[in-house]
Amino acid sequence: MTAAMVHVFRRSRHVPVYRSNIYSRSAILDPYPHYRAMRALGPVVWLARHRLYALPRYAECKATLRDDDTYLSGDGVAANALTNRLARGTTLNSDGAEHERRRRLVAHRLMPRALRGLGDAVDEQAHRIVDTAVRRGTVDAVTDVATALPLAVVPDLVGWPHDQRDHLLGWGAATFDMLGTANRQALTAVPATLQMLRFARRVVRERTVLPDSMAHELLSAADDGVIDLDEVPALLIDYIAPSLDTTISAISSAIHLFAAHPEQWELLRADPALLPNAINEVVRFESPLRAFTRKVGRNCTVAGAGIPAGARVLAVYASANRDEHEWKDPWLFDIRRDAGRHVGFGNGAHACAGQGLARLETAAVLRALLDRVERIETVGEPIWAVNNIIRRLEHAPVRLIAG
Ligand code: HEM
Repeated sequence: MTAAMVHVFRRSRHVPVYRSNIYSRSAILDPYPHYRAMRALGPVVWLARHRLYALPRYAECKATLRDDDTYLSGDGVAANALTNRLARGTTLNSDGAEHERRRRLVAHRLMPRALRGLGDAVDEQAHRIVDTAVRRGTVDAVTDVATALPLAVVPDLVGWPHDQRDHLLGWGAATFDMLGTANRQALTAVPATLQMLRFARRVVRERTVLPDSMAHELLSAADDGVIDLDEVPALLIDYIAPSLDTTISAISSAIHLFAAHPEQWELLRADPALLPNAINEVVRFESPLRAFTRKVGRNCTVAGAGIPAGARVLAVYASANRDEHEWKDPWLFDIRRDAGRHVGFGNGAHACAGQGLARLETAAVLRALLDRVERIETVGEPIWAVNNIIRRLEHAPVRLIAG
């Protein structure tokens, strides 16, 4: 760990302390016992290893995300100082009017209305992917099903050139690793993250973006003097970096969960109108993003605990989504519950700009499976990826049994 990566804050008195490393390999692979222990300690918990105030419960986590005057993103949302410096210039890392300005530039392209034209093409791709998988019978839900659709759809939409697409998955995962604490995972990810940034700068310099894409719109905005050309690389990364692993996580977790809970697949087959809520339940149950930080802009209290200006709070989306104070039997996967209020896509001003697209892709794959597959069976141990921020399966062998 380098000195540059460490945040230095002291704990307020009266805040319970959690001493475990929640970014250790074992905690990454099995985070839920840690989250449960943190929630049991209280609504605000000092993470001694990471020098952060964690908000593991739903109410405080959501309230913090909604109060973007006090809890700031402009100094970064990572759990380490180096990434927070490197990530300047993105929509994710901005506040107030600046955030609104950046978000207005291209986020409208991902609103459900704007995506309507894409629906048929995405459905067609999803059916092709699922047809091939069903013909094979036994497949890896991650590599054979979940990965193909986001890779086929998102880089074109964003306008990323065809060159270097093989790197996108690795670069995206590295970007997320760097948003965690300053551990070996994060350090190992530095070169790939810098490579991605360098490539984004080259794409802008050489104007190799795809026509009519989000990137093209950003370049036109720069040509018209609405934004600086220097701003474009970070804004490109804003959209490409979080667009793949997150959605791959949701699609593969959905398949894995329906294999593990065949009665839930039966319910969905009997009533496909449950599909949008089923996607919410997947994102609640296995939240693809674990947690991001906010810098505290002024002295404040959360649930009676004083937190000094300059400290960092950790909004633990994945823990909030399993909070027993909010959810009945949160450890049960049930597509009939009212899952829509989860914070898996964040909340407030920075709520996920790409959630419409993520839902569209996940729904397309599940609809294609509903059309063809009567039963999904687990046929081997699932393996979880090791990443500081993203919770996703690396491999999930399943058998797709056609109807
Ligand atoms: C299941 C899939 C996804 C999940 C679970 C997810 C989750 C999230 C979360 C939790 C945030 C809030 C960050 C914060 O509070 O600081 C966020 C923000 C964001 N996401 Fe997603 N995301 C997903 C897919 C996508 C996709 C497909 C894209 C782009 C194509 C995308 C683009 C963004 C952007 C640009 C932001 C920043 C918004 C802002 O700061 O105003 N996401 N996402």
